[in-house]
Amino acid sequence: DEEGRIQRIASSIRVIPNFPKPGVIFQDITTLLLDPKAFRDTIDFFVERYGDKKISVVAGVEARGFIFGPPVALAIGAKFVPLRKPKKLPGEVISEEYSLEYGSDKLEMHVGAVQPNDRAIVIDDLIATGGTLCAAIKLIERVGAEVVECACVIELPELKGREKLGGRPLFVLVK
Ligand code: PRP
Repeated sequence: DEEGRIQRIASSIRVIPNFPKPGVIFQDITTLLLDPKAFRDTIDFFVERYGDKKISVVAGVEARGFIFGPPVALAIGAKFVPLRKPKKLPGEVISEEYSLEYGSDKLEMHVGAVQPNDRAIVIDDLIATGGTLCAAIKLIERVGAEVVECACVIELPELKGREKLGGRPLFVLVK
């Protein structure tokens, strides 16, 4: 059943304290990828949710959105668009800065990859403060396209990242 599948996904995620720095509890999805049934179910949940919503773009956030996004894009017949860290994309880009606990980072998207009539979902492994997804949303909306929903495997609800998404829907499998 659905509850059991979610439970299996949740227990396949490894929790590593004090990585990458003291005080951070890292949610490691590489162990989910080692369980083909949990990985398959993760993709299937997203495909079931978006398969009939006329989604034309799956945007994946570097780095782990590049793992979960492409199988979903292929299954629902949508374009896959990588949103990358600075200076990785070779073509003309637009970029959005977002703040981290210390300092800031940027996400970039190729100009022309997303068109004004596109209906997009944004996929990442995890939402923490929401800064990353917020930047992803801005990139897509700046070119006139619609972000139908954001989808993550994991949400850390105590960080209230959901509130940063300006009311746009967020779908998560595990809290
Ligand atoms: C992690 C995670 C999300 C982001 C979420 O990526 O994969 O992309 O942080 O955090 P936020 O909601 O507070 O913005 P990370 O910064 O570790 O980058 P990486 O995937 O390139 O390692």
